[in-house]
Amino acid sequence: MRIRKDRIQKDLEAINAFNGTPGKGVTRFTFSGEYQGALSYVVEELHRIGVECTFVLGGNLRGRLTGLDPSGPGVMMGSHLDTVAHGGRFDGTAGVVAALEAARAIREGALPHRLPIDLVVFAEEEGGRFGWGLLGSSAWSGRITAGQLAHIKDREGVSYLEAMEGAEIKVLDSSTLNSDSLKAMLELHIEQGTILESRNVRIGVVEAIVGIKQVLVTIEGAANHAGTTPMNLRRDAMQGAARIIAAVETVAQQEGMAGMATVGQVICEPGQANVIPGLVRFSVDVRHSDEVRLEAMVAAIAHLAEGISKTRDLRCHIEVKAEAEPVEMSPGICDLIEKVARTEGVEPVRMASGAGHDTGIIAKIADAGMIFVPSKAGRSHCTEEFTKVEDIALGAEILLDTVLELAR
Ligand code: HGY
Ligand code: MN
Ligand code: MN
Repeated sequence: MRIRKDRIQKDLEAINAFNGTPGKGVTRFTFSGEYQGALSYVVEELHRIGVECTFVLGGNLRGRLTGLDPSGPGVMMGSHLDTVAHGGRFDGTAGVVAALEAARAIREGALPHRLPIDLVVFAEEEGGRFGWGLLGSSAWSGRITAGQLAHIKDREGVSYLEAMEGAEIKVLDSSTLNSDSLKAMLELHIEQGTILESRNVRIGVVEAIVGIKQVLVTIEGAANHAGTTPMNLRRDAMQGAARIIAAVETVAQQEGMAGMATVGQVICEPGQANVIPGLVRFSVDVRHSDEVRLEAMVAAIAHLAEGISKTRDLRCHIEVKAEAEPVEMSPGICDLIEKVARTEGVEPVRMASGAGHDTGIIAKIADAGMIFVPSKAGRSHCTEEFTKVEDIALGAEILLDTVLELAR
């Protein structure tokens, strides 16, 4: 094994020590102090093996292992270090440490490769700080403009660009990623589901990534006194929002297993027990493997929101916050991962990802593939998230050989 499990374990512990909510899961929002600490650890580890790092468009980090043909398009491996609030230790981080260990193995073994191999850490994959997921990879690949980054703000009103400046992130390479500069992308990630564990298989080959559309629904009524306003004279934003939120679940259930919809964030103003809510804002995260059905689900939710609001004399506003179409991985890369896994004695499972990933954004401009490793009880985006370091190490071996083959 060129990959060393003990170093992966050490990396996981070192990175997850940078945490804004110790004892209550891992919270590491993009460009926060803890995010910068984790990123600096990765930069130092790369420097240790002679790999120079730079920040690229969107505030993503890139460490380049130059090959025999330094000017060729790169082969990218990596993931993200930002987390959801009170999240787990492995979502994103497992992919970064696997890529870091693969980089070490390439350097230590002087493993030959023609094309540059880039270790990348994508910024704001989760959307935990700016409410817009897959932001770093979307900016780097030109889906989001610098102008938009100047207007996407966090809860304190700090824009993405201001937050980058605050973290002293200087983008030295502001070129947009495209098929000339990138040949292929590979991401190792925890499955965040139960398929691998239930089938007792250690490696998954991702063939497709689900489509996602996140909207913010604002319901506006009239704040009023909880004790002196008769029930029939109220314009209670919460009573409207509650009925719409309940309807969201029904829309998803009508799609069977293929459709998902989640209301994860609710803000109520003024948010006091003795005041009838004048305004309620809530997120709806809608997912489907089929783009037509995804759009139909969002349209159904919007139609219900408008209808319920109208009957209750409420105002309804719906804003799309983030979206990524369903995307297929490169069949050639899926076959290659499968072939390499078999050389490691593993018969991998081919599967789809219900989670969104930066690889889904990058797959729009280059061949892309993902390697899944098992999640204990399928849990993720929570403190209970767990993946065995042995599985990450096996995944890293497969990542290493797949990347070397693509960079040959
Ligand atoms: O939401 C997702 O699917 C991913 O974890 N960002
Ligand atoms: Mn996640
Ligand atoms: Mn992730």
